[in-house]
Amino acid sequence: MRSLSLVSVFTRRKLLELYFHLNRVLASILTWRDPYKSQKLISTRVLLHAPFGGKEGRLGAWRALVEAQKTGKVRSIGVSNYGIHHLNELEEYINSGVGGQISVGQYEIHPWCPREDIVDWLKRRNIVVEAYSPLVQATRMQEPVLQSLVKKHNKTPAQILIRWSLQKSRIIENTQVFDFELSEEDMQSLKTGVDAPVCWDPARDSRL
Ligand SMILES: NC(=O)c1ccc[n+]([C@@H]2O[C@H](COP(=O)([O-])OP(=O)(O)OC[C@H]3O[C@@H](n4cnc5c(N)ncnc54)[C@H](OP(=O)(O)O)[C@@H]3O)[C@@H](O)[C@H]2O)c1
Repeated sequence: MRSLSLVSVFTRRKLLELYFHLNRVLASILTWRDPYKSQKLISTRVLLHAPFGGKEGRLGAWRALVEAQKTGKVRSIGVSNYGIHHLNELEEYINSGVGGQISVGQYEIHPWCPREDIVDWLKRRNIVVEAYSPLVQATRMQEPVLQSLVKKHNKTPAQILIRWSLQKSRIIENTQVFDFELSEEDMQSLKTGVDAPVCWDPARDSRL
């Protein structure tokens, strides 16, 4: 458990249809407790699990998340399983003054469900795309196209599917940092003299 203090722990709470009304969502979030019992600030990412509740319910749920974020109970907010029309509806609502920022979009994404239109919508807005069921819940391991790649690369179907997901993401790019080095001059040029966290800052939070 010690190592937990070294990293941010994200707890993803999925809000079911039952909670898709402003007051109930807000009341629910405000009663959450730190899973590690400190009763202090919770570092949590909250995703609206699905576009349930009709327009009023969806927008009310978003507003509740924005309010919860302002209280410091919630660190980042996002959506899951929203179609393009739901995303457009939400973007319009955000821009109307309610605010909030969609930080993550979580979707079933794999070769049999690439969701290119949604991925494109999210990427154009720099929203993190999170893929669930990347192994297709092991239901397509025998697909001929997968089996042919298994033979070609001498890997398992799961390894091919994970590699597909990786190649669709920035993870590979982000790990390719060992073939160059910044000079002392480069390092000096990056001494910006600025101290401006883009995330939360528990060290300066007077409630902690
Ligand atoms: N937002 C949403 O609506 C939503 C919906 C569904 C899922 N999710 C999230 O997505 C995450 C994972 O998705 P998922 O469980 O649906 O699907 P998944 O990762 O595509 O599939 C999991 C299945 O793959 C099997 N598996 C794992 N490694 C394997 C391997 N090397 N070879 C063969 N089979 C292998 C597992 O079997 P074993 O159990 O035997 O290892 C399990 O049955 C979860 O965190 C879940 O909460 C979100």
